Amino acid sequence: MSIIERILFPSVKINKTLLTQKLQNKTILITGGSFGIGEQLCHQLSEIDCHLILVARTTEKLQQIQQELLNKPATIYIFSANLSDEFQLDQLIIYLQNYSIDIVINNAGKSICRPIMKSLDRYHDFQRTMQLNYFAPVKLCLALIPQLQKNKGHFINIAAVNVLLAPTAYWAAYQASKAAFDQWLRCAQAELLINDIKVSTAYLPLVKTRMIEPTAVYRHAPTMSRQQAADHICQLMIDQKEYYKLWWALLGQLSSVLFATPWLKLMQLYLKKKKS
Ligand SMILES: NC(=O)c1ccc[n+]([C@@H]2O[C@H](COP(=O)([O-])OP(=O)(O)OC[C@H]3O[C@@H](n4cnc5c(N)ncnc54)[C@H](OP(=O)(O)O)[C@@H]3O)[C@@H](O)[C@H]2O)c1
Repeated sequence: MSIIERILFPSVKINKTLLTQKLQNKTILITGGSFGIGEQLCHQLSEIDCHLILVARTTEKLQQIQQELLNKPATIYIFSANLSDEFQLDQLIIYLQNYSIDIVINNAGKSICRPIMKSLDRYHDFQRTMQLNYFAPVKLCLALIPQLQKNKGHFINIAAVNVLLAPTAYWAAYQASKAAFDQWLRCAQAELLINDIKVSTAYLPLVKTRMIEPTAVYRHAPTMSRQQAADHICQLMIDQKEYYKLWWALLGQLSSVLFATPWLKLMQLYLKKKKS
């Protein structure tokens, strides 16, 4: 880990005793549990005597994780589903009625980085990101509210820090869909809280997972590790704070309001230079 990464992305030290106390015998749903942050989180939580339900499309990967963690204290259940597919999402919701869920980690996500001028015949990009990053968690949350209410449960959303910052060219599909669910959850938050459901959001920066691999400019950019990201999510499970944000996110938020116009001009200069 470089010095810049240490400064930009400070780690959190998890109190394992507290985490165990919080999660013992709890049932935790992790969407997107097959790779990246979700997979890492599953490995970390497998040390605790709890029930983990992992959902993702890649059945073999889910089975592999279940097999690897067979001798760990946690019990792992897997359910393969494409959450962008309304029928499969409904099947998952039916399956989840067999459980009594305490914590939902809304982590499954899809990112797309593509210029608008290369998206003219790609309306489906916008539909797909909205389907997975917005409509699926809305439907899942609505379906699980009764269980979470009964258990005084916790809904944790894995958002991106970008939704708090100035919009960026090429990221319209991803950022709009992540911002949509963030806004939905913030609107619902007060209602969920008075119904005994805690809500937390992890505004993560760039995390070293396969999600960022296709984006060339990110190859040498500072990133948070998967373990750090999973630790911050664990910390949210312990303290149940409203959100996890990096120390510089507030500066970014302020700048994105104060310097919105210069930022837009800067992006145009960059795009023109790239085009010429
Ligand atoms: N990496 C970053 O820089 C970064 C930064 C901020 C926020 N985030 C957020 O963190 C979350 C996890 O991302 P990651 O970086 O861990 O990415 P990842 O390694 O690509 O993992 C994404 C997970 O979502 C699952 N998934 C994708 N499409 C799905 C679908 N249609 N139905 C069901 N599951 C699906 C994937 O499993 P299958 O492919 O097996 O379905 C995988 O388990 C996302 O919500 C992302 O927006 C990531």
